[in-house]
Amino acid sequence: MEFDSQWFRKFPPDFRWGTATAAYQIEGAVHEDGRGPSIWDTFSHTPDKTWHGDTGDMACDHYHRYQEDVELMRQLGFDHYRFSVAWPRIFPTGSGALNMDGVAFYDRLLDTLIDAGIRPVLTLYHWDLPQALEDHGGWRNRDTAYYFRDYAALMFDQFGDRVDTWITHNEPWCTAVLGHLLGQHAPGIQDSTQAGMVAHHLLLSHGLAVAAYRSHAAQGQIGITLNLSAVYPASNRPEDLAARDRMDTMLNRSFLDPLFLGQYPSGLNELLGSGDDAIQGDDLAEIAAPLDFLGINYYTYQVIADDPEHAELLGTRDVTPRDEVTDMGWPVGPHGLTDLLRRIHQQYTRIPLMVTENGAAYPDRVVDGQVRDLARISYLERHIRALADALNSGVDVRGYYLWSLLDNFEWGFGYSKRFGLVYVDYEANRRRLPKDSALWYSDFIRAFRQAWA
Ligand code: FCB
Repeated sequence: MEFDSQWFRKFPPDFRWGTATAAYQIEGAVHEDGRGPSIWDTFSHTPDKTWHGDTGDMACDHYHRYQEDVELMRQLGFDHYRFSVAWPRIFPTGSGALNMDGVAFYDRLLDTLIDAGIRPVLTLYHWDLPQALEDHGGWRNRDTAYYFRDYAALMFDQFGDRVDTWITHNEPWCTAVLGHLLGQHAPGIQDSTQAGMVAHHLLLSHGLAVAAYRSHAAQGQIGITLNLSAVYPASNRPEDLAARDRMDTMLNRSFLDPLFLGQYPSGLNELLGSGDDAIQGDDLAEIAAPLDFLGINYYTYQVIADDPEHAELLGTRDVTPRDEVTDMGWPVGPHGLTDLLRRIHQQYTRIPLMVTENGAAYPDRVVDGQVRDLARISYLERHIRALADALNSGVDVRGYYLWSLLDNFEWGFGYSKRFGLVYVDYEANRRRLPKDSALWYSDFIRAFRQAWA
């Protein structure tokens, strides 16, 4: 281990080192105990939407093995955990009839986590919209925002005694753009105007849930998680700078500006499609309600050049160096994490930040009972150093949740991409095997504790 105790003290003693997962990616048991179908059940069962037709039907079977998974976390010393609740387990048709068996599963999970000394962070929406709501227009329908608020309020009631950190949405950009503009995610729509409306309704639903949380006189904290990127221009030519700005507006400002500045960035309409018709009354004030923290998911960075030939890519070309990429083909750029965190701090907000996802997929293999994922360890180590650089320059970061605890269903890529610290053997009864990176992270967290002891 190359971190010394002085280095560890760049982080506050209560800094949260944890791992993250999401319901549809790990739970399986899609027909059990009254769960209703979600848009990801429908999408993954539609031919040619996911790699090899993979679905989350069984996933990591976490629904049945949650005790084993919590025990693994406890043994490894991973004492902070971000997970999501499947809305269709709670309200099988999205609203109306409540399914107490679904509530009971998360009751058991939370009790098990707390008994093991693991502090939970609960994400309310990690992409698995009840299919019944999709049948009524999904996030294109403003009503869905109000149903989300009602679901959120019920969760605050049920779990507020054990959960003190809440995330409304995970990566709403992906729901709007991948789900409704590019059609790569559920529900698989390709329509820029609808994508713009969806972005607005997602943000509105977030604001409504925050308001509901405040009126609960809750003691904890609530925030949202955005996927953000560090975007650099290929050169100082005005054309490249403008191309960078277009990409930055599309990737980052589309959600940061409404949340923290109370307005959509100018020029977004041409990029994402107009959500203007969806905006009503005080929506923007509701969306910009003060938060307790901002969650940031960071994986990669971009270098952008002007290229008028590529209208579909906003007239830009991605010229990011590709000498080091992960199994997703994403360039590795830890410096982007430092720059991104500094930028949020300088331009947007002084509320605490949390890295709610960071990690990498590699084509891991078990050899002699061991997964020697040295590339992942190197990725993690460099990103954690980049995080320390941000803290050093005064950015208030409170936690780091590594994606992911387990190998899991990576959306359109199915089970072909492995992000886990723990290997899941899909051929052998989904047996769990901690990779070398899990042992590394475990040692890292232990050494951190000792440095502060
Ligand atoms: C993020 C998602 C998460 C996982 C990682 C690799 O966009 O939030 O569910 O798929 O990427």
